[in-house]
Amino acid sequence: MCPPRSASIKTRPMRALINGIDIEYRDEGHGIPVVLIHAFPLNQQMWDDQRLPLGRIGRLITLDLRGFGGSAVPAGPYWMALMASDVRGLMSHLGIDRAVLVGLSMGGYIAMSFYRNFPDAVRGLVLADTRAAADNASGQERRLKSAAKAEREGTESIVDEMIQLLLSQAVIETRPDVVSKVRKIAIQNRPEGLAAAQRGMAARVDSSESLAAVRCAALVIVGSEDRISTPEETRSWQERMPNSRLEVILGAGHLSNIEQPEIFNAVVSDFITGLGG
Ligand code: MLT
Repeated sequence: MCPPRSASIKTRPMRALINGIDIEYRDEGHGIPVVLIHAFPLNQQMWDDQRLPLGRIGRLITLDLRGFGGSAVPAGPYWMALMASDVRGLMSHLGIDRAVLVGLSMGGYIAMSFYRNFPDAVRGLVLADTRAAADNASGQERRLKSAAKAEREGTESIVDEMIQLLLSQAVIETRPDVVSKVRKIAIQNRPEGLAAAQRGMAARVDSSESLAAVRCAALVIVGSEDRISTPEETRSWQERMPNSRLEVILGAGHLSNIEQPEIFNAVVSDFITGLGG
């Protein structure tokens, strides 16, 4: 008799030496490999509501990017291509040649860079609550100030102001459990790691042209209340991606996977199963 599917889910985080640093990751389930890349200023715990549902349809890999969670915090900046190469290195370590990449926000920037550098390793692309454009001058300045503030005043000083942007107003006002869950994940991160990631994001390149050249199937997700990557802006670059479709999650803010996990999981599951194994 086969064991129940959930019995195969391993919950223990593991560590691997990738690009010379320790990376903490989880590897759960079986089937088509799916790598989830987290947002800023969070870590792989932001995917906890995805683990069981998506772990039933594929082999789910999550990781703490360099500088976050249980991974090492080397000196920065953490360029998007460097973090993409950490993801590729982890896939090689796990014997995975091709995977579906799911990146949310900063995770999306990294997934875009990954596609540019390793297109043959991408089976499908899910870009959630993210942006194709690079930062403009004032956006870069804001980030560099936030990096300096994190180093000077600590993680909490930037987390509390960011939460106002990460979640929808309705969630901020009516779901203190969600607010405290996001805060609890974010404050585990070291200020040096947050600063290095901010400096890397400030220097990221514009991905609009390269997204228009993506050949694999892509799903773009955005919360209707996302204040960082708005639905209007998202639609403008998604429409230029040849093999893509857009899913707007009504009522969700920037962290759509945490605010509306059932809908997020359903649309991502449909996309992955539609890829045909
Ligand atoms: C994120 O959620 O990863 C950040 O909002 C990304 C950003 O600051 O651009």
